[in-house]
Amino acid sequence: MTSPYQGYVYAYPHKTAYRPLSPRPTLRSVWASEDRSALFLYLHVPFCEMRCGFCNLFTRTGAPAEQAAAYLGALDRQARAVADGLGEATFASVAFGGGTPTYLTAAELDTACDIASRFASLGEIPFGVESSPATATADRLAVLKDRGVTRLSLGVQSFIDAEAHAAGRPQKRALVEDALSRIRAAGFATLNIDLIYGIAGQTPATWAQSLDAALAWAPEEIYLYPLYVRPLTGLGRRELPLLGDSPPVIADQRLSLYRQGRDHLLAAGYEQVSMRMFRRLGSPATPAEYSCQEDGMVGLGCGARSYTADLHYSFEYAVEIGHVRRIIDEYIAEQDFASAAVGFTLSDSERRRRHMIQSLLQAEGTDRSFYKKRFGTDPMDDFDRELAPFADAGWVSVDADAIRLTHEGLAWSDAIGPALFSPRVRALMDGYRPQ
Ligand SMILES: C[S@@+](CC[C@H](N)C(=O)[O-])C[C@H]1O[C@@H](n2cnc3c(N)ncnc32)[C@H](O)[C@@H]1O
Ligand code: SF4
Repeated sequence: MTSPYQGYVYAYPHKTAYRPLSPRPTLRSVWASEDRSALFLYLHVPFCEMRCGFCNLFTRTGAPAEQAAAYLGALDRQARAVADGLGEATFASVAFGGGTPTYLTAAELDTACDIASRFASLGEIPFGVESSPATATADRLAVLKDRGVTRLSLGVQSFIDAEAHAAGRPQKRALVEDALSRIRAAGFATLNIDLIYGIAGQTPATWAQSLDAALAWAPEEIYLYPLYVRPLTGLGRRELPLLGDSPPVIADQRLSLYRQGRDHLLAAGYEQVSMRMFRRLGSPATPAEYSCQEDGMVGLGCGARSYTADLHYSFEYAVEIGHVRRIIDEYIAEQDFASAAVGFTLSDSERRRRHMIQSLLQAEGTDRSFYKKRFGTDPMDDFDRELAPFADAGWVSVDADAIRLTHEGLAWSDAIGPALFSPRVRALMDGYRPQ
């Protein structure tokens, strides 16, 4: 394996392995026999004020005010259908993600909270919201604080203006600092800052400057993302024809910047939770949105996934702008949300694999007795052969209690995760063609 940067596994299987479900199962049948005692509610807002050059998330820019309002109307209709399909259910945590949820106005965010509060007791459970510097305005933050938000995550990417620009996100440091000061003044329990490494022109010295600028706010969490240049993104259109999919020059820089960033944060009193996530020692543990190995996620919005034990489902997925806009328009016009449209059915072996991949990619690793309690076998009986090359490389260690990535193994998370995908998921992902 030559590059550690094969793919970010934030969920298994990836949405590109989902296919149209035919016939479409009703939500009632999908949720009927599920454990609904501690669900996770995720509300997706597919709008942003700009399209960053690196980003391939499901989102659009320049949505007119009427479209945001109409989107909330559709969310409301979907929420009613989902509540009906779920029946009695208790939620343990909630998150608004995107896109940029704070693209919505303060009043619209209040409405989004009303929708979420039909499912979950806001103010009593962890509640995370993603935001961007320009949209983290005082009025929006006041609504979010008032409605019980406990974690505010800000996409900064770089504190160096020239780097933000090079990443296709023209943003000034003064704007970022002002946003951070408003967020701290609002008083959320957890502030998270996202930074990216591997940007053109970034050096160990400028990376250290960005890390220190973030640390000056003593954020409870920091995410360090390696830059991926992907097809259909602004950077991809500019660079991929020249460099190929994973330019080795960038890969080398990313690995050394990763090590530098990790060591910098460990020395500053942070613990490593996963390759990307660092938590200040003594900070409250927040449920990591994408790492949850458990089942039971209820998604609202056209980019949100929902998970039951054996079915993951969503709407269509897209990155290309015309396609994203069509899916949003169709979602807004949709009147019937009572069934699941696109998805992936997990067999028993896929469920084991999902648990293995998602737990292994956390620093805590895979708890052997928990796995055994869940699936009836020891994880080494199921994955011994597939993990052997990683153990030989010194990336995986196994003891009586857990299977863990080593310090070096964590650096190779984005290679180890994809290598554990099943042949079926790999074939579906390879065969994915945007409509
Ligand atoms: C939903 S955004 C965060 C909130 C908000 N939209 C913003 O950008 O300020 C999620 C994060 O994923 C990271 N990200 C997205 N695409 C990436 C890529 N291609 N390479 C590296 N990091 C990426 C960025 O750090 C970004 O802040
Ligand atoms: S990084 Fe954030 S603001 Fe930029 S396009 Fe992606 S979701 Fe939108």
